[in-house]
Amino acid sequence: MKSVLITGANRGLGLGMVNYLVKQNKAENIFATCRKGSEELNQLAQQNKHLHIIQLDVTNVNSFGDVSSTISKLVGAGGLNLLMNNAGVATKFTKLNMVKAEQILENFTVNTVAPIMLTKALLPLLKQAAETNSDKPAGVQRALVVNMSSVLGSIAQNDQGGFYPYRCSKAALNAATKSMSIDLKKDNIVVASMHPGWVKTDMGGNNAPLDIPTSIEGIFTTIEKLGEQDTGKFFQYDGKELPW
Ligand SMILES: NC(=O)c1ccc[n+]([C@@H]2O[C@H](COP(=O)([O-])OP(=O)(O)OC[C@H]3O[C@@H](n4cnc5c(N)ncnc54)[C@H](OP(=O)(O)O)[C@@H]3O)[C@@H](O)[C@H]2O)c1
Repeated sequence: MKSVLITGANRGLGLGMVNYLVKQNKAENIFATCRKGSEELNQLAQQNKHLHIIQLDVTNVNSFGDVSSTISKLVGAGGLNLLMNNAGVATKFTKLNMVKAEQILENFTVNTVAPIMLTKALLPLLKQAAETNSDKPAGVQRALVVNMSSVLGSIAQNDQGGFYPYRCSKAALNAATKSMSIDLKKDNIVVASMHPGWVKTDMGGNNAPLDIPTSIEGIFTTIEKLGEQDTGKFFQYDGKELPW
């Protein structure tokens, strides 16, 4: 894959993806977007000239055009092969008797609205990548959008209740994945939702069974195999398909 963009790349799984791509030398251009950098991300960018940090609060929809122009200048006709809509928030401890409207709105703004609007803004770059690489199979070698979801967004697997803001925002993101997969099929852009597993990050907490490198390696092994037949589906980091 030539060009990859990852949102929320300053820590957690986003930073883990940048680390993985740099170490494996998997991408010619890595666009790591974040609200504010982190020491580790800045250091990686100093050592790797093909890693570009772009300041982006994903709720600032009006700045998406500038992000697209910045990338366009660097990739030329190559476009963008992989968009990782990773940035996310999770409001916890939200039983029905405690949940607040603002919590639901915040989760929807970051977890649902932002990935849809960013994909819309970067569509010309994704189309360009799919076209330029028309001799390659559909998937990450052409153009792929991965919406970082969660098993908590699966309606079929919800047997615990609660988590209204997070569950609903990720279920809505999954609905967006399905629509994008249908709308972008003609453009040869593959779209999938991904559950990274329960991972030790600020969001996942210390009790999570998976470490970041295990989750990330699984995610990339899985997405490298995704083809035309996988568009509009929901996968776990280890390649298992999840029910909506
Ligand atoms: N960890 C898990 O067990 C787990 C399980 C299922 C799904 N996920 C999903 O995986 C993704 C990454 O999670 P994580 O575990 O790495 O979480 P994390 O450690 O809490 O990191 C979240 C990332 O999202 C960024 N972010 C949040 N709001 C943002 C905004 N408005 N604009 C730009 N960036 C923003 C954060 O940036 P700041 O530093 O600026 O806040 C941070 O980089 C999320 O979509 C999450 O829902 C995680």
